Amino acid sequence: MIPEGSLLAAHDLRKTYGATPALDGASFSVHPGEVVAVMGPSGSGKSTLLHCLAGIITPDSGTITYAGRELSAMSDAERSALRRSDFGFVFQFGQLVPELTCVENVALPLRLNGVKRKAAERTAREWMERLEVEGLGAKRPGEVSGGQGQRVAVARALAASPKVIFADEPTGALDSLNGERVMELLTEAARSSNVAVVLVTHEARVAAYSDRDVTVRDGRARDLEHAV
Ligand SMILES: Nc1ncnc2c1ncn2[C@@H]1O[C@H](COP(=O)(O)OP(=O)(O)OP(=O)(O)O)[C@@H](O)[C@H]1O
Ligand SMILES: [Mg+2]
Repeated sequence: MIPEGSLLAAHDLRKTYGATPALDGASFSVHPGEVVAVMGPSGSGKSTLLHCLAGIITPDSGTITYAGRELSAMSDAERSALRRSDFGFVFQFGQLVPELTCVENVALPLRLNGVKRKAAERTAREWMERLEVEGLGAKRPGEVSGGQGQRVAVARALAASPKVIFADEPTGALDSLNGERVMELLTEAARSSNVAVVLVTHEARVAAYSDRDVTVRDGRARDLEHAV
């Protein structure tokens, strides 16, 4: 049921909001270091799938296994700790903390994991350099462009050395040039650090950066690994 060698795998997920089935038997898996694009029309269940995989919402039924552990068998506190230690997130609109500077934003996941300020900010600056936003450390998110903000958000997602990055329409608010640069930097950094990426996108142009595509229709994820 769980594809061999996968890091994160979901089997037969179902999730209903009132009378609306958001997921209706979705299965999915990703290997370490693999970039998987989750595609499909609006309302098909892509974000719901991503939130279930990340342990943010609990499906009504089905199983999610991360590194050999069943997410539903963990307590809320264990799942939160896992999100902090092993997962990174990038959303459509950066969702940086407006009161913090960019370097403080990137350092935040490390600080939440108990790393001291100086060491956390040193690592944050290294990631900002890799994402080509090293000059923005002292600025607040409101003072940078959309493309710069997304690169800061990608640096933040990578800073605490996650095993999986969940990205929901990370380029949805960017023009194509900025979008492609963000995708290039995100996938390059992920591949070189062996980080798996679950990338939700509408755009074939963005999905082109993935190793594999999964299509979600009416809450059902069609994953070629599961089709056999
Ligand atoms: N919190 C919620 N409460 C009620 N219904 C929800 C909720 N979240 C999602 N839904 C419904 O579940 C279905 C799947 O939604 P989801 O957000 O997963 O779609 P999506 O594929 O991410 O769409 P989009 O491409 O527009 O972001 C939709 O019918 C949506 O209206
Ligand atoms: Mg969505």
